[in-house]
Amino acid sequence: MCGIVGAVAERNVQGILLEGLKRLEYRGYDSAGMAILSEDTRLNRQRAVGKVSSLEACLQEAPLNGNVGIAHTRWATHGRPTEGNAHPHQSGDSLAVVHNGIIENFETLKTELEGQGYVFTSETDTEVIAHLLAREFTRSQDLLTAVQRALSGLGGAYALGVMHKGEPGVVIGARKGSPLVVGVGIGEAFLASDPLALLQVTDRFIYLQEGDVVRLSPGGRIEIFDASGEAVKRPVQVFEHGDGLTTKGEYRHFMLKEIHEQPQVIAATLEGRLGERGVLVESFGTNAESLFSRAKQIHIVACGTSYHAGMVARYWLERYAGIPTQVEVASEYRYRSVVVPEDTLFVTLSQSGETADTLAALRFAQERDYLGSLAICNVPGSSLVRESDLTLMTQAGPEIGVASTKAFTTQLTALMLLTLALARVHGGDAQRQVEIAAALRELPAIANQVLALDNEIEVLSAAFAEKNHALFLGRGAHFPIALEGALKLKEISYIHAEAYPAGELKHGPLALVDSEMPVISVAPNDELLDKLKSNLQEVRARGGELFVFADEDVAIEQTEGLRILRLPHIDEALAPILYTLPLQLLSYHVAVLKGTDVDQPRNLAKSVTVE
Ligand code: AGP
Repeated sequence: MCGIVGAVAERNVQGILLEGLKRLEYRGYDSAGMAILSEDTRLNRQRAVGKVSSLEACLQEAPLNGNVGIAHTRWATHGRPTEGNAHPHQSGDSLAVVHNGIIENFETLKTELEGQGYVFTSETDTEVIAHLLAREFTRSQDLLTAVQRALSGLGGAYALGVMHKGEPGVVIGARKGSPLVVGVGIGEAFLASDPLALLQVTDRFIYLQEGDVVRLSPGGRIEIFDASGEAVKRPVQVFEHGDGLTTKGEYRHFMLKEIHEQPQVIAATLEGRLGERGVLVESFGTNAESLFSRAKQIHIVACGTSYHAGMVARYWLERYAGIPTQVEVASEYRYRSVVVPEDTLFVTLSQSGETADTLAALRFAQERDYLGSLAICNVPGSSLVRESDLTLMTQAGPEIGVASTKAFTTQLTALMLLTLALARVHGGDAQRQVEIAAALRELPAIANQVLALDNEIEVLSAAFAEKNHALFLGRGAHFPIALEGALKLKEISYIHAEAYPAGELKHGPLALVDSEMPVISVAPNDELLDKLKSNLQEVRARGGELFVFADEDVAIEQTEGLRILRLPHIDEALAPILYTLPLQLLSYHVAVLKGTDVDQPRNLAKSVTVE
């Protein structure tokens, strides 16, 4: 939810930390701050409300200088976005800490620390960590020991970066429930919430594990200790995606760039996973075949856009693999008395692999009698990937725009591969599997044709700029696509949008339809088309303005109040992937017309690592 960067370098770290914060801004952007230890061991700090650019302006006025520092971009959980609540938090002028996560027992700790004379100056939970660490440092005179002792009293989730002027040259990091990686430099070492923040200085990373504490010291020394305090070695991994993926290139926004990257990332997600007879089951892992053959049910758990991908997969898994499937949002699932039928496979979907609710759901599931767990994820080394039995990586590359686009369509692609793998193992219709596999191979090219409709979609978007509400309709596997279209529109344009299965319209939402309520419908040429057509008539009869995304062969004529955008023909199994694209473009252009912050919409964060 917040972003952390830390550095122990052989040069002034201000520029490194600032660039790192810019790359982490997707994680939170209501305030930012930095603390650097100067050569004469003074702890100097700058904090600013608003985006990282506000902090940058402050640093231009009064630069910080030193080889050791920590920095933070915030998404408020405790206390308003003010300078006083921005990180780093300090205890006096000797210790500074940055924190991502939530300390659940902060009130008890605060009362205890206030009783011991510590004075609080912010409304945050993080400040208790600063004073707790300062107290433990006074007792032990060793920063690593102080951190280890303080952590044993902290409840909740955290990733931390800490420094103390009593130990100049040292930055300590720790993680439990929130991500943290170590960047391995040449004679230098770094910390960050996400490798993206550090690609400017290294492509070699150590992904810390739950409970790990790391000490970075001069000369690039990196020492890692596990939750029991034992020194441990963790592997160094080379980051595979190039740094070019983290810049906007010729595009005005990351979101637009990421929408246009979809043909290539869908192709990358398919690469090496399709053989002549369909999907290669081994691409899910060595024991996938035996696990899949035993799976009689599937439970899919995810949040937000990833949840919508799971909803589409339910239609696919039941139809093409004949496997009963349940899909649920993680924040509900983990608090339910879940009944797990025998031989149920547990599947999580997540772009980041660090979403707190999804991770908690996985851990909850691991205590129950599931057959095993599969994570479909976009971030190698993420907690979800490490903690699942099987993984299928999507190859979307870094997704910077807060509104998920290419992560969604690559999840759908991976879910269709999962469907085909299960269908194959369970002896489903082999001919149909071969047809869908062939259609998957053609998908990137057809997706390119749809993206070429960008200008037409931009023209359509003008009809939404002045509206306050919108309704999205779809049937079957396109109902979740309508949900995703509505989520995109509200997320980035702030227009209130709802989605319904088209057949539900007459059971209530039809009362909302008038000339002020644009209705968007996804109408590929599948078996539900005739039913959808009558639903559209219901809207027209009430004066509602209709926007229909339809197959080029669909016999619906454009008339007054009914605008049609025709899409190239595609195998109906894959239509949900293709029909997502125009909805993404529509939301994007509406948001641009409305002048909102497309890549960093208000109140949101890219990676939701708090409950
Ligand atoms: C989508 O546009 C959102 N930003 C959000 O719903 C997101 O999909 C959700 O928070 C889940 O994230 P994850 O895929 O990283 O787990």
